Amino acid sequence: MSSQKDEEMFSNPYFMECYHTPKTKEQKVNELRARQHHEEEISSLPMHEGWRYLPLRLYKGFWFPEIILPGVLSLRHHLRPTSSDTFLVSFPKSGTTWLKALAFAINTRNPDLLLSRHPQDCSPTLEGFFAGPNVPDLDALPSPRLLSTHIPYSVLPKSVHDSPCRIIYLCREPKDTLVSSYHFFGRIDRPEAAPQPMPFLEVVELFCMGLSMYGPIWEHQLEYWQVSQSQPDKVLFLKYEDMKADPEANVRRMAEFMGRPFSAEEEMNGMVGEIVRLCSFEKLSRLEVNKVGVRGKAFGFAVKNSSFFRNGKVGDWREHLTKEMAKKLDDITRARLYQSGLTYSNS
Ligand code: A3P
Repeated sequence: MSSQKDEEMFSNPYFMECYHTPKTKEQKVNELRARQHHEEEISSLPMHEGWRYLPLRLYKGFWFPEIILPGVLSLRHHLRPTSSDTFLVSFPKSGTTWLKALAFAINTRNPDLLLSRHPQDCSPTLEGFFAGPNVPDLDALPSPRLLSTHIPYSVLPKSVHDSPCRIIYLCREPKDTLVSSYHFFGRIDRPEAAPQPMPFLEVVELFCMGLSMYGPIWEHQLEYWQVSQSQPDKVLFLKYEDMKADPEANVRRMAEFMGRPFSAEEEMNGMVGEIVRLCSFEKLSRLEVNKVGVRGKAFGFAVKNSSFFRNGKVGDWREHLTKEMAKKLDDITRARLYQSGLTYSNS
């Protein structure tokens, strides 16, 4: 039996099946024990109030939202990837919603499904999915599975490192990611949070110190970048800015990497252009299904479905950051990415 919290969290019909697999009494007891053990471990980790919306805990070198950490620890224990899985990974506010929509359209070859399905409902975000007391059964999802996460590469379970599953990582320039995060997290409606949003200057300071969800961003991106260089069959490293400049070429790269290249006939029929058009910011942000409703209730907050679409621009940081702020971020980026080969086109 799934708990009410799980049912609420996944009140969309697409992933509900994962909570309906029967479990023995012993399995349930073991899950409960593991959960208690995880909670004890989490309570001993260094904590920070974050941007005043969600407290953060430092785990294995990265700052995780405290309410998500039970899910991170649980999936490190339970996740069993298969060779046909594709993981969609990003630092928050890097264009995950877009990536999910594109991968879903490539997988199903039916982009019209997105007319009635929010991209966030196209692939479960694993750490949220596993954060409830009842461990979901991912085998109930149709194969090939699209599984999403913001977890850094080094924190992913060894089962993901060792499995022949694929990872698509979407990277976005840090200044734009920061601005997008500030707007998004400022819109979260959370009764327990401070009534006044944190001043932008303070948010910039914290971001620079790595104190943002899943931060520091530089190490997050670098880890996936390095694996994409040493194991190109394991990690496809995409950049938001490149996707905006040439979405069709990047959709073809995604499809090939996912083992679902477009046939000559699909190319002739304009399938790639159709996917790009339907997944464009302009199209998705205007769909009713993406304009109404909220999610996140099981975590005690409300995020509007429309908040995942702001303006989808490259270089929007110019409208928000002072010269000093931009320089500070660029200096950190230069130092952290020095000699890594990772660069951004719009900094
Ligand atoms: P902005 O806030 O800069 O507009 P995530 O999906 O990881 O939460 O990232 C959200 C960011 O991706 C937001 O950026 C959002 O507008 C942008 N985005 C959402 N859908 C998009 C799409 N189809 N194409 C391009 N950008 C998109």
